[in-house]
Amino acid sequence: MTDDWTNVPSGILEFLPRKLHLQPNHPISITRQTIESRFPPSHFTHYNDLNPVVTTHQNFDSLGFPADHPGRSRSDTYYINASTCLRTHTSAHQAETFQSNAKSGYTITADVYRRDAIDRSHYPVFHQMEGARTWNRSKGDITADILADLNAIPSNDLVVEDDNPTVHAERNPLQLSHSAEEVEAVAAHLKRSIEDVVVAIFKHARDAALASEDASIRQEAEKPLRVRWIEAYFPFTSPSWELEVFWQGSWLELLGCGVVKQELLNNAGASNKIGWAFGIGLERIAMLLFSIPDIRLFWSTDKRFLSQFNESATLRRFVPFSKYPGAKRDISFWVRDQASAAGGGIPLSYHENDVMQIVRDVGGDLVESVALVDAFKHAKTSRMSYCYSINYRSLERMIPRSEANDLHNAIGEQLVAKLGVELR
Ligand code: PHE
Repeated sequence: MTDDWTNVPSGILEFLPRKLHLQPNHPISITRQTIESRFPPSHFTHYNDLNPVVTTHQNFDSLGFPADHPGRSRSDTYYINASTCLRTHTSAHQAETFQSNAKSGYTITADVYRRDAIDRSHYPVFHQMEGARTWNRSKGDITADILADLNAIPSNDLVVEDDNPTVHAERNPLQLSHSAEEVEAVAAHLKRSIEDVVVAIFKHARDAALASEDASIRQEAEKPLRVRWIEAYFPFTSPSWELEVFWQGSWLELLGCGVVKQELLNNAGASNKIGWAFGIGLERIAMLLFSIPDIRLFWSTDKRFLSQFNESATLRRFVPFSKYPGAKRDISFWVRDQASAAGGGIPLSYHENDVMQIVRDVGGDLVESVALVDAFKHAKTSRMSYCYSINYRSLERMIPRSEANDLHNAIGEQLVAKLGVELR
């Protein structure tokens, strides 16, 4: 099974059976149900148990990712072997689901995996929901069908900014086989469906914020909800958009979506269909809905966390239990391999995600954040020095000083062994 492309550590494989999106009363599962409820079973199949191990064809090729797309690199993706990986997004299942789904729409909620930074909003595993809806182009007046479905979506009082035309010749082109009229209709249905989801989510978030003790949080929550549509690019949709929501004083990027590339539908045996798809991250929404301050909490099995959520009650803000003191430790190293400084940038002879993975392998959830705090070039040897600050803090207990020191030393040893750096 494994080969010289394998890079998935055993610690990551332990997440596969957890399925937080199906765990009763878990905030990720509550968030999933809140969104699913806007996509009724009359039109949508809800898939929640698709296998996270997928082929690189499913995850990338079937979606039109070019061969040199950075998302394919071993520094970004967990590979089981050269042709199999842990899905990096729920879109990995688009092709097979367009082929097998008996209804006109579906949602897919699943755990997805990405090698990434370590901080309060990044974790190597998170959850996404994909949604899609199609119409049959070969029968009758498809535009009239779509507009009839559009009228069935409840209207809302969102303040919507949508400044760009649906289609832009260079930036957001109409697909060759589509008419402008049908794409206008699909886009209108997509946008209204997503706005309907946003209203449902933020109704809860606003109720919770209105109950806050903080007057400025209450004041922000009283204002009408604003969203804006902006042009985007995905290899598997065109035109494409992102939706941003104005929440507590700043614009928040919420999701990506667009009109599904016809080639993908054709390859899935659905060449008579046209439709839309979207993908949304659940952690960020759950953090905002429940005021959860750190993404690691979702994985906690501590009763003080889990007992605060109840899917059949109205939603309440999470009350943090005691915050334990953290321990900050710096680690500095020389990069032995002298990558040339072509272009004047800082030469990197390692990938930062490899540092992150080593820290995760050793420190697990005892690490709150890792940040590059210094980088310089030695004037004589022209070697590079990097310094990372690692913040050790458990969400559940006090970490003794000696334990933080042991973890820190072990991380240093692993950096030397695996990356060939020289500790300073
Ligand atoms: N898969 C995309 C992502 O992870 C989101 C997306 C899904 C965009 C479906 C368009 C359509 O960023």
